[in-house]
Amino acid sequence: MAQQLNSARFATKVLGPELDEVRKSGAAFLHGFALGMPTAQVAALFGPVASMHGIAAVQILTPRERETSPPNIYSGNFGTGEFPLHTDMAHWAIPPRFLLLRCVVGSHEVPTRLLDSAVILAQLPCDILARTLARPRRPFGHSQHLLRLWQTENDSPLFRWDRLFLTPASTNSVEVFGAVTRLLDSASPADVILSNPGDTLIVDNWRMLHGRAPVPATAAGRCIERTYLSSLH
Ligand SMILES: [Fe+2]
Repeated sequence: MAQQLNSARFATKVLGPELDEVRKSGAAFLHGFALGMPTAQVAALFGPVASMHGIAAVQILTPRERETSPPNIYSGNFGTGEFPLHTDMAHWAIPPRFLLLRCVVGSHEVPTRLLDSAVILAQLPCDILARTLARPRRPFGHSQHLLRLWQTENDSPLFRWDRLFLTPASTNSVEVFGAVTRLLDSASPADVILSNPGDTLIVDNWRMLHGRAPVPATAAGRCIERTYLSSLH
């Protein structure tokens, strides 16, 4: 508890501008931040690390070939190809609020893509998205719960999107899924490059979609650590 309080005080004092940036713009990037500090400790400076059943607190992301990856992760479907824009854990009832990516071995050849869901909401109002029902493509636990593409959770808007792991649950939803897909196909996401150790990207996962450019053979050693935060300090 004392360590949490210290982290919160440090964050408020030192990381105030970055935390404000995430709240204002949906994401913030820090160059070479806290080099050498373990990712779990870095994450705790920004907020409490989310406890998620079956998910390690810090996950190591490296390029993987499709053939040698399980089908329930993006690498098992796209391999080293482009990862389309999505929000993480969109098939969960409540996806994690924030994600933090931290560069261990970087590559200037592999941008992370970011797109504000405001681009979609400008064309498809939230009441339409709230009526758009989806279900996990694969059975999730013992349930096939219905999910909405947009909802409010604890007074915060929550947008979810994943064309791979979510499937439309009604005829109307099929149409909206098509409209969202077309909007994303014509959108211009921002590229963020995690190129140096310590480069750190914090993303509001209820607001921003993210993706990853293809990984060329010359970037096969790229290594990013990811952790989820339940809130910000
Ligand atoms: Fe992701």
